[in-house]
Amino acid sequence: MMRMLNLAGRQHLPMLALCLTLIIVTTLIQLVLPLGVQQMLDNVLSTGTALDLHHLALLLLGLFAAKAIVGYFAQLMLMVTGDRIIVTVREKLFSHYQFLSLAQHKDHSVGDWVSRLNNDITAVRNVVSNVAIAFIVSVLQLIGAALIMLSMNPSLALVVLLLGPATTLVSKLFGATFFRLSKRIQEAMADSNSTLQESLSGIEAVKTFSRERHQIGQYRQQMKRFLARAIEARKADSLYNAIVAFITSVTTIAIVWAGGLAVIGGELTAGMLVAFLLYAQYVTQSIVSIAGHYSAVKQAEGASDRVFEILDMETEASDGENSQQAIQPRSISFHNVAFSYPDKAVFAGLDLQVKQGDTVAIVGPSGCGKSTFLRLLPRLYEASAGSIEINGKALRDYSLKQLRDAMSVVSQDIHLFETSVLENIRFGRLDASDDEVIDAAKRANADEFIRDLPQGYASEIGANGCFLSGGQRQRIALARAFLKDAPILLLDEATSSLDADNEQRIQAALAHIQGRCTTFIIAHNPATIAHANVVLDMQRYRQPPMPELATVSGELVARRALG
Ligand SMILES: Nc1ncnc2c1ncn2[C@@H]1O[C@H](COP(=O)(O)OP(=O)(O)O)[C@@H](O)[C@H]1O
Ligand SMILES: [Mg+2]
Repeated sequence: MMRMLNLAGRQHLPMLALCLTLIIVTTLIQLVLPLGVQQMLDNVLSTGTALDLHHLALLLLGLFAAKAIVGYFAQLMLMVTGDRIIVTVREKLFSHYQFLSLAQHKDHSVGDWVSRLNNDITAVRNVVSNVAIAFIVSVLQLIGAALIMLSMNPSLALVVLLLGPATTLVSKLFGATFFRLSKRIQEAMADSNSTLQESLSGIEAVKTFSRERHQIGQYRQQMKRFLARAIEARKADSLYNAIVAFITSVTTIAIVWAGGLAVIGGELTAGMLVAFLLYAQYVTQSIVSIAGHYSAVKQAEGASDRVFEILDMETEASDGENSQQAIQPRSISFHNVAFSYPDKAVFAGLDLQVKQGDTVAIVGPSGCGKSTFLRLLPRLYEASAGSIEINGKALRDYSLKQLRDAMSVVSQDIHLFETSVLENIRFGRLDASDDEVIDAAKRANADEFIRDLPQGYASEIGANGCFLSGGQRQRIALARAFLKDAPILLLDEATSSLDADNEQRIQAALAHIQGRCTTFIIAHNPATIAHANVVLDMQRYRQPPMPELATVSGELVARRALG
């Protein structure tokens, strides 16, 4: 919890201190009530006149009106501060998400990320504002009531206060269980969120394979698991509450019994016994509420753990110089480069020299590591061995921003955003004018079809461009990359969904920038490969090696070299 506060910034501390002070004031007023009642019973009722009673009642009324007003402000400020803290933590988590590496992102499902940012942070927020206020009130009430009772009748007070250690003991016993159960519930929730997310975004695949019922079954399984875990937690919760409630009622009975004897013996006035019962009620209420909040706090700790698990992950390597200077790549070289995913070697021993203006065609059968190779240049993944240098300087000696600013990428899995065509292309360079966007669209041979859309460039394209055809999406992605106008162009099967005519026009656009841009292009089309002046056959570096295929592709390379 303290970490949460630290994270949200210390600027909230004065406000929290003020809230705390106001809460102390309201609690003190609350503590006066039983004393007033005692006054009434012991003095006003036996000896006084009706006028004294009026005075006493009005005094108490005034006090409690003041308490209501102070309480209103304390509650309001505390809630708002809670909102502020949570907004800050959410923003921090979101920006942390943005800067985690691709590999870390792939380790978790989207549903899991969403669940941490929404559900888990909300669980923590409840504790910060709702539970915190009640917790502080309870503690103060407990201490105040205890002191007053001790001054009235120490031995009777001790009976009530024995309750404290008993409940603390129960709390300790249950604390660890609550923590574990809560984490398991949140995990089950995150799993079901993933299924939800996947079924929604993959709805077309679900429908074409008639897998609606299968998905429903899967979700139901997860809900079943969630329910089982929730029931476990509720059982622990209820058992805990029942034990605590029993301990507290035992105390009330003890007071009436022992206190009654004291009144009979003349050691205690009747008014004091009533006040005592009221204070004892404060004490039991406080302990029950502290205990209840204890479990809420424990649950929130489980949720906040899941938040900090992410915040503790290191963000992408930002080693290298902290420079924004644009890279002018004169040469790019690969020496003995190898890459493995955690459980799979992809390629090794790759050597390649590329000069400015070269077009490198990357060829090889599906799954041989072409897309993976392209991810090494912007350092989406790190090479496992060997070195990659631009202008004789290792990639990691540039800042990530510098490196990625120097590259325009059209990846194999294009992602478009749920906004207009114009804004999607402008994603390539945020300060581009409308004319520049249109010019890039023309070069990607997209202008014509965009103008045919209902609202032209202002047309919304749906989630991930779902209102467009595959070829149209590719051309928007190409326009976005052209607009960025970076010196290195990485194209991963960027024209695979286009018809021959469209592909040829894009080929022409690429030929136009050839010489200015250094281009890496993954393609299967012989015409595209023919345009390249370097051919990189990934099959040759494949891990583990595949000898019989290597000869075939070796011939391809030889043929290419001849022209
Ligand atoms: N994130 C990943 N984790 C583990 N293995 C992967 C991952 N991405 C791809 N692979 C594996 O690496 C190999 C190369 O994939 P990829 O570079 O996409 O091939 P290509 O683009 O040549 O079709 C494939 O066998 C694939 O199974
Ligand atoms: Mg690929």
